[in-house]
Amino acid sequence: MIVDGRLRVPGDKSISHRALMLAALAEGTSRVRGLLASADVKSTALVLRGLGVPVPDVSADEIVVRGVGRRGLRVPAADLDCGNSGTTARLMSGILAASPFSSRVAGDASLSRRPMQRVARPLQAMGARIEFERGDGLPMTIRGGPLKGLTWHSEMASAQVKSAILLAGLVADVPVEIHEPVATRDHTERMLRARGVDVRTEGLVVTLLPAARLDDADTDVPGDPSSAAFFAALAALAERGSIEIDHVCINPSRAGAFHVLSRMGALIGYEDAAADGGEPVARLVVSPRPLSGTTIEPAEVPSLIDELPVLACVASRAAGETRVTGAAELRVKESDRIAMIVKNLRAVGADAEELSDGFIVRGTDRPFRGRVATDGDHRIAMAFGVLGALDGNAIEVDDRECVAVSYPDFWRDLDRVRR
Ligand code: S3P
Repeated sequence: MIVDGRLRVPGDKSISHRALMLAALAEGTSRVRGLLASADVKSTALVLRGLGVPVPDVSADEIVVRGVGRRGLRVPAADLDCGNSGTTARLMSGILAASPFSSRVAGDASLSRRPMQRVARPLQAMGARIEFERGDGLPMTIRGGPLKGLTWHSEMASAQVKSAILLAGLVADVPVEIHEPVATRDHTERMLRARGVDVRTEGLVVTLLPAARLDDADTDVPGDPSSAAFFAALAALAERGSIEIDHVCINPSRAGAFHVLSRMGALIGYEDAAADGGEPVARLVVSPRPLSGTTIEPAEVPSLIDELPVLACVASRAAGETRVTGAAELRVKESDRIAMIVKNLRAVGADAEELSDGFIVRGTDRPFRGRVATDGDHRIAMAFGVLGALDGNAIEVDDRECVAVSYPDFWRDLDRVRR
């Protein structure tokens, strides 16, 4: 397969969620350009509308949100449906915990299986009342109100937990301090600072001090590195050619997959590096080189957590062994991604093995054939879409539509950049 083309991947999912939530809570009017118009971001828009925020259709190139202020959310008339989106459910929990009404947060079958106690526990320690109907998952009812400040030692590396606590502190007007085991993506911190809030990061400790107000701010959403990773992987695996990916967010807390691809041998250039809306961005130019396996250490995992499915697929074509540990969080993503990666690699004829907190993949160049069961997981579908695009492979993905969660035009873009 020869790759050749230039594309712009859709807006970053994490930043898109946060841009909508912070625009809703701001005192004034915020413009958001380049928002990701995917199912997950639509879930955040829907939840905010359910709370009385006039969020326009997120599909426009640029939208304007009139903020209602931190005390301006209204009592929801119905359940707040987060669809498939963990980021919506967890970040909104922080906002709802500090809002003086009761709300029932729900989601689809996959989201309802995912752990929510991880956000409930710190929010309860701040004084929120949160009730579960069954075990650890949605639906949950949050009875919000005045909260007290919190110092929280997080046992897991989770930007969603960190962000829920920061947003609870922001809305409740109380100081919070979060100690992380490993640094996670810092978009919430960057975006709060850009809106006048005193948020400090020292090593693995993030603190937020009460803010007089939350300023409005415009956001230019950069391209999603998690989406760009599929095309970087495709280019790395090609016979020849190159792919240019414009305006990708290369925030160090998100760029781990690009470092790993370089370490495996791929040639990745960063052009026109700039800072845009508080985030570093660049055009990535990726070309193939012979690839070899690598070891992905636990400390690297948060910076590439969502890219592990596609990195596993790259590893299946790289010489030698690739080993990932410290990634038990993969088991509670949109699917059990450790199980799904290994099961599907084996289903197409690759050599892969599960570890409790990761996996081992041994590369080969024999052709891969078979059917991939995605369990509705968008990143499993796209990772195997990349592997299936290589010459000699014949891989059928059972649910191609599930890519709508984060990258609705993925299949079209995949066709555009290869010959
Ligand atoms: C996200 C954080 C990560 C990531 C998810 C988006 C975010 O989850 O996997 O896709 O926007 O904060 P965790 O915080 O659970 O690690």
